[in-house]
Amino acid sequence: MNQNVQAVELDTKARPKDPARSEMTPSRGGTKAIADDPALLSMMIQGAEQSGPLWTATPYWQGYRDRILRELHRVGLRGMRNNQVLLKGFAFGGLPRPELPASPVKRAIWHALTAIPGVNRILAEHDRVLAAEYERHKSTRRNLARVALDEVAKSFPDLQPPAGIANDDADDAFTWRGHVVVPAFAIYLTRIADFYTRIQPKDVTSILEIGPGLGLSTLAHMTINPHLRVIANVDIVPVLYLSTQFLRTIEAIDLVDYRQMREHVTIAAEPAANGVRLYQMAPWQLPKLEGQIDYFFNSFSFQEMEKEVIRNYAAEIFRLVDKGALIHSMAAGHRPGAGGQREPVTLEFLEQVFSKKWPSVRTIDGFWPRVYGGSAELTRLLTK
Ligand SMILES: C[S@@+](CC[C@H](N)C(=O)[O-])C[C@H]1O[C@@H](n2cnc3c(N)ncnc32)[C@H](O)[C@@H]1O
Repeated sequence: MNQNVQAVELDTKARPKDPARSEMTPSRGGTKAIADDPALLSMMIQGAEQSGPLWTATPYWQGYRDRILRELHRVGLRGMRNNQVLLKGFAFGGLPRPELPASPVKRAIWHALTAIPGVNRILAEHDRVLAAEYERHKSTRRNLARVALDEVAKSFPDLQPPAGIANDDADDAFTWRGHVVVPAFAIYLTRIADFYTRIQPKDVTSILEIGPGLGLSTLAHMTINPHLRVIANVDIVPVLYLSTQFLRTIEAIDLVDYRQMREHVTIAAEPAANGVRLYQMAPWQLPKLEGQIDYFFNSFSFQEMEKEVIRNYAAEIFRLVDKGALIHSMAAGHRPGAGGQREPVTLEFLEQVFSKKWPSVRTIDGFWPRVYGGSAELTRLLTK
């Protein structure tokens, strides 16, 4: 059992519940608000406690996990899309803020220091400069996203971003050809479009992604591929909780959450009658998943795990996924020891593991490298 998870869980359970916050309400900007569901979060945390180390956050993500849980305890999900303390590490949104120390004593010292006249004036000026920079950066990101979306639309003229991408008043939202989107969505769309320029959408009716983060890649698939019926997303607690609560605000998705699958001995990946059914799964639920899935995706998340965790996932992926996989990862992985990781995970290692089932391996050039300066060398499309 992981002591850190348990310690934070006690805090989370102690938090007073506000029933009004569990309802789906329109937010200020007319997008749908993301609702808290403390009971769902508690269930997930309890599940993580009862799972082994192969299914929970490895050292690199333990600090992120604890920071997110502390922030959830402090403010919940309200304003999540603009709360960088909740999103940092797997999604964009909100003015960057320094991360305060976890220790209450150190925090108290920091608050005392910042109350000193003179110090607080300097910090206020610092905040003002940062806010101005953030605004400038936002408009640059929007402009680049417009270029990216226009480029992708040339190859996929029928693309249809699902409504709700900016839900919860994402402060960097903008309108493109009548669709309300956010700049980060365009990044994911370019990566996914590169995949669909090699693999025909009609050959992809089901996908599995491990470590999707917020879920903008899920929405990117839905934007390009009208044939998609089943998506299974696997992420660690509490990122799974954040993405579940965001993705359930998207009307085009028929979402099955952790709670609904919790008691199941097996989980059948079944298509929805219409549209897309999305299974939002905790890692330890993956062995229960049954059915055949066409393609597997991983984007910059294997590189932050331990090798035995990846091998463990690979066995499940080989059992479930038939046609191939798309992996994005840093060639050399993170620097040795980063975030407490025991050993860097290189792209070569990932290629070795996954080419056992899919021996045809190529890199994919395209929109992502061209528009965002990503490198085709960081991509591997593996097929039979
Ligand atoms: C750097 S983020 C990448 C997010 C997204 N794929 C992207 O391209 O922006 C790493 C993701 O991996 C997830 N992750 C970390 N360890 C994991 C594990 N053991 N199992 C599943 N997901 C994990 C994190 O929660 C996060 O969503």
